[in-house]
Order: sequence, then structure tokens, then C-alpha cells
Amino acid sequence: MRVGFIGTGSMGSMLVRAFSRRNDPNLQIVACNRSREKLDHLVETFPTLEIAERPQEVAALCDLTFLCVKPKDARLLLPELGFTLLPDQHLISINSALTIQELEGTLSCKVTKIIPSITQEAASGVILTMFGSRMTDSDRAMMSAFLRMIGQPFETKEEQLRICSDITSCGPAFYSFIIQEFTQAAVRHGQLSPETAQYLTVEMLQGLIDLVKNQNFSTAQVIQRVSVPGGITEAAMQVLRPAVSGMFDDLFETTKEFQHQHNKH
Ligand SMILES: NC(=O)c1ccc[n+]([C@@H]2O[C@H](COP(=O)([O-])OP(=O)(O)OC[C@H]3O[C@@H](n4cnc5c(N)ncnc54)[C@H](OP(=O)(O)O)[C@@H]3O)[C@@H](O)[C@H]2O)c1
Repeated sequence: MRVGFIGTGSMGSMLVRAFSRRNDPNLQIVACNRSREKLDHLVETFPTLEIAERPQEVAALCDLTFLCVKPKDARLLLPELGFTLLPDQHLISINSALTIQELEGTLSCKVTKIIPSITQEAASGVILTMFGSRMTDSDRAMMSAFLRMIGQPFETKEEQLRICSDITSCGPAFYSFIIQEFTQAAVRHGQLSPETAQYLTVEMLQGLIDLVKNQNFSTAQVIQRVSVPGGITEAAMQVLRPAVSGMFDDLFETTKEFQHQHNKH
């Protein structure tokens, strides 16, 4: 199968790396990018990567074409891709701003919209997935199996896309910031090296994920088991509760408002 990527910026190159690392002999990857340097860099690491000169060439060559450019560039490209992509081909857009309806209105091919996450760099985390109306059940099953090579596809609706993307795609940045704050405070208060604080924190988080994911602990059970009345964790939770309660409501309001403002223009 030939899989193409139009745009190898931050997300496009991440997806090219993630699929290339699978070393699947049945997968030939083709990519093009407006400026050449980003492609040269990828070819240095993945010499079997095929380079195309123009987006239309990628679309003509590939069974699946990922469109990984910013919304403004995507809207410029779509009419040209509409001439190239045939009904049995497949376009996968990674843009939250382009609706399925808009894509299907310009293209006659099958359409899927996905929101990847930086976690796919580690072949992990969720890939939010929305299928267009031309996708049959077997197309959907094929696409989900294909995406499982680099993460966990999770089907969602356009109406829930903002909040789901906040969790799966923006979430890694939010939680990295919280981890940074946590470890830097530990360094300031405990004469630890930053490396030790980071190691202990990451191992703790891995253990917590194992408990919740593999041992069916709820987060409420974890809190109850660790934060016993009159104990040290309970005393510390009294600092945490007022500081954090409501904070994420403000965060989700901000992303909703940002999207609303940007979709107006
Ligand atoms: N960042 C995230 O975590 C994330 C997560 C999910 C979805 N997304 C979405 O993914 C999309 C891409 O984001 P990004 O962060 O990867 O942007 P980016 O780093 O700016 O990458 C876009 C790439 O597209 C190339 N490009 C633009 N027009 C082109 C054309 N006509 N032909 C070929 N290549 C072209 C650009 O080339 P140049 O080298 O010339 O600039 C650039 O390398 C955005 O819509 C974003 O919302 C991002």
C-alpha cells in the first residue's frame, strides 16, 4: 500500500516517522513539502521515503493521502486535489478547522478526519477519528486497523471534537507543564537533582497509569487509599483542592472561546 503525506511540518513529519518506524514491507511512504529541507532531513533517517515534487503527485500515487498543512493552505490545495483524487482513493485530513462536510463538498474521494497527538511519536495515545459519509463499514475497519499501527483510534463526533482534542492532543502539553511545576518545586524543596526528581515523577506516573489501566483502580480509590484522614497526604490535599478546583473549567472555556473566535475569521 502507498501512503502519502502532504506537509511534513511538526505533525506531518511526526506521522511519517511513526509509520516509517514500523518497517512494514507492505507500506511505501511518499511525502512532499513546500520547502525542501524538512524532506531532506526525513530522508536522512528514513532512506526508503519516496519524495514527490507536488501535492497532486502524492495524491495521484497513493491509496491513502494525509493532508498535514495548516487550514489556510489546505483550503488553497483542496480544489486542485479534487481534480486528482478518484472516488476509490482516500484523503485523511488532520485539521480540526476543516469539517467533513467541507472536505466532501470539494472532493469525490473517501474522507476521514483525524486529530493525532504527539504521543504517536511513541506509537501510543489516542487518534481521534471521524469518518465521512462515503466510508463503508469495511473502509472504516481498514482505516482503524491502519491507524492502530501508531496509536489507538477513537471515533468521535465533530460536536465533541474540541473537548476531545483538548484531552488527547493539547493534554500532553498541559500535563507536561504540571509535571514541570511539580518536579521543579521538588528540586527547590528537597535538595534533589532535576534528573532525580524527573525520574521519580515519571516512574510514579507510570505506576499510577498501571494501577488505573491494568488494575481497574478508579482515581477516587487511589485518593482514598493514599490520602488517609489525619495523614500527611490529606494535609497536602488541602493545599491542592482550592488551587486546582475550577482551573480546568477556565482552561476548557479558553479553548472553546479561542476556537469560536478563530472560526469566525
Ligand atoms: N501541533 C499539534 O499538536 C497538532 C495536533 C493535531 C492536529 N494539528 C493540526 O495539524 C495541522 C498542521 O500542523 P503542524 O503543527 O504540523 O503545522 P506546520 O509545522 O506548520 O506544518 C505544515 C507544513 O505544511 C507545509 N505546506 C504548506 N503548504 C503546502 C503545500 N501547498 N504543499 C506542500 N506542503 C505545504 C509547510 O511547509 P513549509 O516548510 O514551507 O512551511 C509545513 O511544513 C494544523 O492544522 C494543526 O491544527 C496539530
